[in-house]
Amino acid sequence: MLDAAPATSGLVCRNLSKSFGPVKVLRNINLELRPGSVLGLIGENGAGKSTFNNIIAGVLSPTEGQIWLDGAPYQPHSPSDALDRGVALIHQEIRLLPGLSVAENLFLGRQPVRAGRIDRAAMIEESAAVLAALGVRLDPRRPVRGLSMATQQSIEIAKALLRRPRYVIFDEPTASLGESDAALIFEQIDRLRARGTGIIYVSHRLDEIGHLADGIVCLRDGQKVADWPTVPVPKQELINAMVGRAFVFQHEAPAPHRAKVALSVRDLGRAGAFRGIGFDLHEGEILGLAGLVGARRTDVVRALAGADRADTGEVRLDGIPLALGTPRAAIDAGIVMVPEDRKGLGLNLDRSASANITLPWEAGLARGGLVRPHDVERMGRAQRSRFDIRGRMELAVGAMSGGNQQKVLLAKWLVRDPRVFIVDEPTRGVDVGAKMAIYQIIRDLAASGIAVIVVSSELEEVLGLSHRVLVMSEGRQTGILTRNEATPTRVMALAVGEPTRRDILQPTG
Ligand SMILES: Nc1ncnc2c1ncn2[C@@H]1O[C@H](COP(=O)(O)OP(=O)(O)OP(=O)(O)O)[C@@H](O)[C@H]1O
Ligand SMILES: [Mg+2]
Repeated sequence: MLDAAPATSGLVCRNLSKSFGPVKVLRNINLELRPGSVLGLIGENGAGKSTFNNIIAGVLSPTEGQIWLDGAPYQPHSPSDALDRGVALIHQEIRLLPGLSVAENLFLGRQPVRAGRIDRAAMIEESAAVLAALGVRLDPRRPVRGLSMATQQSIEIAKALLRRPRYVIFDEPTASLGESDAALIFEQIDRLRARGTGIIYVSHRLDEIGHLADGIVCLRDGQKVADWPTVPVPKQELINAMVGRAFVFQHEAPAPHRAKVALSVRDLGRAGAFRGIGFDLHEGEILGLAGLVGARRTDVVRALAGADRADTGEVRLDGIPLALGTPRAAIDAGIVMVPEDRKGLGLNLDRSASANITLPWEAGLARGGLVRPHDVERMGRAQRSRFDIRGRMELAVGAMSGGNQQKVLLAKWLVRDPRVFIVDEPTRGVDVGAKMAIYQIIRDLAASGIAVIVVSSELEEVLGLSHRVLVMSEGRQTGILTRNEATPTRVMALAVGEPTRRDILQPTG
């Protein structure tokens, strides 16, 4: 039975529910989004935020409930149907084709045609206009390859805006951006709001939500558990609503490390990427790698893990020189790296969580050349309880929420204890509770004597976790600070490359 249509403009959901088979993922969600406002949507991993967004954007259909759009019933059958009705979803993952130009990416699959031919001039003109409206200075004819993540994310936004949506959903748009790049996205959202666009904004960074949202809704286990029509809301109140109990988010200092040097790095460099990297990492020490997006932190850890070659320098593990540029040598020496891009490099989303975890260890599990499903499940179950993974280990990892995928990724590389553990952006897209769990995992590894390197774009995270922080700026090591020295101001000063500040402040692009 249909309820009476709401007279007001905006996006209105009534009793929205969604089940996957027997599993109820959303229950009776009631929610309203006004034009020209930003609704912050928060909740733990697996709370149902993306499922909700996917329903609004026509990716999924609800099992029950109704939606109205500006007073008219709204039941999108597909994302393009939703776009036709004025609703766009901007995904967290960037899906641009690097070889094509900015304009070609913007118009992919729907190029303007004139007299039977693609109207390039119109395409470039419209691209320039939509980019300008977002405040992005960029030649639409240049290829996407080589553009920063923040710029690529802006292009994704521009792509959605070409269809002139009245409602835009952002599902963790800043997850792959550093703090300063995220500011660019906030500006764009402010512009959209000022033009009357209604926005749903999902993020695990509660400071962002506090900064952007006009109202906040919290989901937990598929239900709306709190609704704040006005801001500000104390951060602790948001956390408590997400977690469902009083929960204090605070960093514990790591246990003191040992005196013995595990990894020593001298003058490590790779042409065109980074140079002059040098440090000693002790047993049980956590070294944070801080810097802005583009500082080349990932390139440095990839070289340490043998994923990329290095042109100069030396790496010693327990005093023994390490053959550089081969992952095998690094793994044999006990250096393990968890990559930052869990969907691209880290996990096979179509395979089960257990199969993902056992993949690197299959040789050891095999008996008579065969890996028995029973052993895969056993190893999966063991890691599930050690890492408190929520979700069914025998189902495809792709159906797990983002935070649980991240835990599966860590679990995969920690079946055996490594000598040196490197982790790149360990809590991207992870909720507060899971974050604390991951920090505890990292602190415990260090306390057991493992040397740890953590790359993170979240300043609070690097500062909270590390014994020392190595700061990089544009491929150079600009300083190493102890835990006491590493204030946000000092780290940021080094991250923008203090000595050559002028270079950094020029617009790039
Ligand atoms: N296709 C599917 N089949 C079965 N279960 C699914 C499917 N898609 C999602 N789920 C389940 O629905 C629940 C909600 O997932 P959803 O992705 O909406 O969470 P989320 O709030 O976006 O989490 P995150 O913050 O980690 O992104 C999870 O338990 C997830 O495992
Ligand atoms: Mg999600």
